Formats: sequence, structure tokens, C-alpha cells
Amino acid sequence: MSTSSVPNSKESGQAKRDPLRLVDVDYVKFLVGNAKQSAYFYAHNFGFEIEQVSDLTTGSREEAAYLLTQGNIRFVLASGLTPNHAYHKEVALYGDGIKDIAFSVDDSELAYREAIKRGAESAYEPQEISDENGTVVMSGIKAMGRVVHSFVSRSGDYNLERVKNRGVFLPKYAMTQDLEINEYNRKNPVGLFYVDHCVANVELGKMNYWVDWYSEILDFNLFKTFDDKDISTEYSSLMSKVMDSGRELIKIPINEPAPGKRKSQIQEFLDWHNNTPGIQHLALLTKDELHTVERLRRRGVDFLRIPDEYYESVWERVGEINESNDSVKDLRILVDRDDKGYLLQIFTKPLQDRPTMFFEIICRRGSESFGKGNFKALFESLEIEQDRRGNL
Ligand code: FE2
Repeated sequence: MSTSSVPNSKESGQAKRDPLRLVDVDYVKFLVGNAKQSAYFYAHNFGFEIEQVSDLTTGSREEAAYLLTQGNIRFVLASGLTPNHAYHKEVALYGDGIKDIAFSVDDSELAYREAIKRGAESAYEPQEISDENGTVVMSGIKAMGRVVHSFVSRSGDYNLERVKNRGVFLPKYAMTQDLEINEYNRKNPVGLFYVDHCVANVELGKMNYWVDWYSEILDFNLFKTFDDKDISTEYSSLMSKVMDSGRELIKIPINEPAPGKRKSQIQEFLDWHNNTPGIQHLALLTKDELHTVERLRRRGVDFLRIPDEYYESVWERVGEINESNDSVKDLRILVDRDDKGYLLQIFTKPLQDRPTMFFEIICRRGSESFGKGNFKALFESLEIEQDRRGNL
């Protein structure tokens, strides 16, 4: 493995030569029990457009997948179609959840070879998917637990800029036709546009291993550290280090449980995720938290409950903000401030039957942090839910 990179080295002249220069988050892939039904869940609840489909009608005979889009967010929701498809076993082990955080790169094969040279384990070898419209090369390396990072390079009509503008995503995908829900979502936009960060839960003692892994394999830099003094309640405790891809692409905080009086929320995740590390939450960015949360609440999104007491002290802590304090309270949004500005955030309850993956809806007003001042209130709310599930 190479040594970790110099901060901001990607901004320098070597950028063109770096085969692991990550251009964008190409997509986030969820494996689910029923891709069609999940597509409607995320479309109705979170305002995603069910933009494209790949299934029997488009010549895909092994796998059904839906491309959901909103802003620069691309989700692929996928299910196996055949009895022995590998996805079924994953869903049995982990429930619905995130399998792949895929990165667009200049050359998938070069990126893959370089990652392997640096010590990454192969998830799958480079494969070329082509038709008369263009070519996509995909390869993947194994990250924590069941998580894969694919490297995707696109050419012809499948180039990323085109995909971002309603170009066909991959061979055997087709645009959906005349879905009322898409029409409704166009008229009633929720306003999500970017994956701000993606949090991974790993086992006790494994956080630093994965911090080194992201640094050595993918040139991420350590952005922030939270220890159990920052993040603990009477019951729950965890440690977290935030890894940053640079170039404002994505941040990946890595959490491990810390010993507490009762079961840590990270341990609950692992218990219900076959003792396997994985993605705990995706934070989706909005430029207008009040608008987005108001819309999401009206659509029926189930958020964690924040008690009245939180709002008795929050304004003293964060000072003046642009948003109406009454609206922030009515919508049960959390607020935090650091030396660079403030942020607004809110968290959903788990998005599937098992207490595993959830979303955060975040709006940054200068703050580059993660809401440290809210950890206590947030974790107490989480523990109420853990207790309801008999998992505290
Ligand atoms: Fe977060």
C-alpha cells in the first residue's frame, strides 16, 4: 500500500495522471426485496423521479432495477428476478440496504488495477457493457462488510453528463413512460439534490482500520474525529472519524460502538445486519430545509421525534439564524453551529423493517460539521426507538 496522500494533492498538476481521481458519485445502489415497490416508496415519500427501469421489458432477465433521480442524486434499486440470484441471499442476510457507493472515474480498469495494487480486495473484475449507443466499464472493490465501491467509466451516449440530463443510464435501461407520480413530483419538488455524506458502521476496534483503508486506497483525508466524550448519553456511546474524498464529492464518517451502560445504536445496527458492517445513513442535502421537511412531512415521512425541551435551549446555543425559529420548532428540525456557520438537520426512522439504514436531511449554512451539538438530543431520541424495539 502507498502512504497516505498529501492533502489537496488532487488539486495539483498530478490530477490527470491519478487513475483514482473520483469524478462524481455515479450512483448509490440499494438491494431490496421488491425493487418496483421500493421505487414507489422513495418516489412518494422523498420525491424521487422514477426515471428509468431495467427489467424483463427491457431485456434484463436476471435483475430488475429502477433508477431514481433527484438533483444530482442517483439511486439504483435492484432485486433478483431468478430464484438463485445472489441478491436474494444478501437481502435475507441484511434486509433492504445499500450495497454499492459507485464512483465515476476516467477509466474503470485503471482505477481498479491501481486500487488492487494499493491493497484493495476485488469485488468484481472490470467488465464492459456495450450496445450500439456506447460503452460502460464497471469494476468493484470491497469496502467494509457487504459494501462495494464500483468504479464506473462511461463513453458514447452513456457519458455522465448525458446521464445527468436524462440520458439512458446503462444498456438494458429505458425511460419510464407516463408515471403520474413523476408528474406530481415535478409539480411538487422536495428539493433534495446531493449526497452530502454517507455513514458506515463498523465493529468495535475497526474504525481506524477503515480510516487507513480510505486514506491508502482512495486517497481520502481525515476530516474530523469524534470520540466517546463528544458522543455519549447515559446508555449509548460511539466513536467516529470522518473521511473526506476531497473536491467536495462525498464524506464518509466511520462509526464504531464504544462501551456504554447499555447497547449502543451502532451495536443495534450490527446485530440486525448479520454482525456485518454497512451503511447506516445517507445525508441528503437541500438548500431549503424548511421547505424540504415541510414537504416530506406532508408526504408522510416518519422522522425521529425530538422533544419540546430541545427547543428550550437551542436558540441560546446557536444564536440567530435566517429561518423562522417557530417553523424550525414546528417541523422538529435540529440546529447546530460551528465556527464556520450553522446547519439544519433531521433524521428519519429506519426506512425498512430492520433497524438499519435511515436518511438525514441536511442544509448547510456555512457549517462543514455534522451537528455535534445535537448528538445528545438525537441519541436520546434514537434510544427511545431502540427501547420500543426491545433493543436497548
Ligand atoms: Fe449524518
